[in-house]
Amino acid sequence: MTPRLHAENLTLAYDQRTVATDLGVRIPDGSFTVIVGPNACGKSTLLKALARMLKPRTGAVYLDGAVISTYRSREVARRLGLLPQSSIAPTGITVGDLVARGRYPHQRLLRQWSREDEAVVTEAMRRTGVLELSDRLVDELSGGQRQRVWLAMVLAQQTSILLLDEPTTFLDIAHQIEVLDLCADLHDQGNTLVAVLHDLNQACRYASHLIVMRPGGTIAAEGDPGAIVTAELVADVFGLPCRVIADPETATPLIVPLRRRADQPATVGAAVVSRAAAGG
Ligand SMILES: Nc1ncnc2c1ncn2[C@@H]1O[C@H](COP(=O)(O)OP(=O)(O)OP(=O)(O)O)[C@@H](O)[C@H]1O
Ligand SMILES: [Mg+2]
Repeated sequence: MTPRLHAENLTLAYDQRTVATDLGVRIPDGSFTVIVGPNACGKSTLLKALARMLKPRTGAVYLDGAVISTYRSREVARRLGLLPQSSIAPTGITVGDLVARGRYPHQRLLRQWSREDEAVVTEAMRRTGVLELSDRLVDELSGGQRQRVWLAMVLAQQTSILLLDEPTTFLDIAHQIEVLDLCADLHDQGNTLVAVLHDLNQACRYASHLIVMRPGGTIAAEGDPGAIVTAELVADVFGLPCRVIADPETATPLIVPLRRRADQPATVGAAVVSRAAAGG
């Protein structure tokens, strides 16, 4: 079955820099898909292409059976919401007003702001824990508060597909888990989520479908985290020697980096050898 969101033969590039060639990706409907991979491998670039924020050089992204570039932008925004890796709020805007902008795709010419819009915005702020910040200026928030405000804005958009680029950056551990649990709830309610995460252990806990990207914008492995995450894969993709054990809480893969000591022999692949040779 063809999923609602997929891409074929993508070449992704900025001016002279090519990030990925011949990249295909399928986001299983109703999945909590997590994308992991080293810095600069192209995760954000892929997410931007999936959300129509970046036009592929070749190939196409398909949404609900049609090439995504054939939709009007408001139509894309009703189906799919993107939380970019970094966003800049208009100066002087309050939290409540910023979150309310998530309703834009739902507004019609004559019926501007409805009681339903108000209720959706309030609920989005409640779920992300920023309701009490409603009258504050976005400029004056902490990094973690601001991150949750952006998330609230995407939730207020009420799309059944959500693309979240590092939704947990800037958040303390408790707020990270809160946001991931919120994502899990949205997933349980039948929405399709795609999130870029850097914490492999969190990725393995929450993902129903994991996509591991390598430098060069290719896919090293994808599938159920329990089936694909091994020490060899982590060493190969991240150059990190580690052990993979079962998470004592969830039994999903738990990545434990090996301790960094020059006198310890290499155990898992070439990355260890090269690190030791480099005097690491
Ligand atoms: N606007 C841009 N113009 C030119 N090059 C860019 C632009 N944005 C990203 N790149 C380059 O494209 C490559 C992929 O970047 P991308 O942001 O997709 O990586 P990423 O996997 O999301 O990394 P990170 O984990 O650090 O967020 C990098 O080499 C980056 O320098
Ligand atoms: Mg990124």
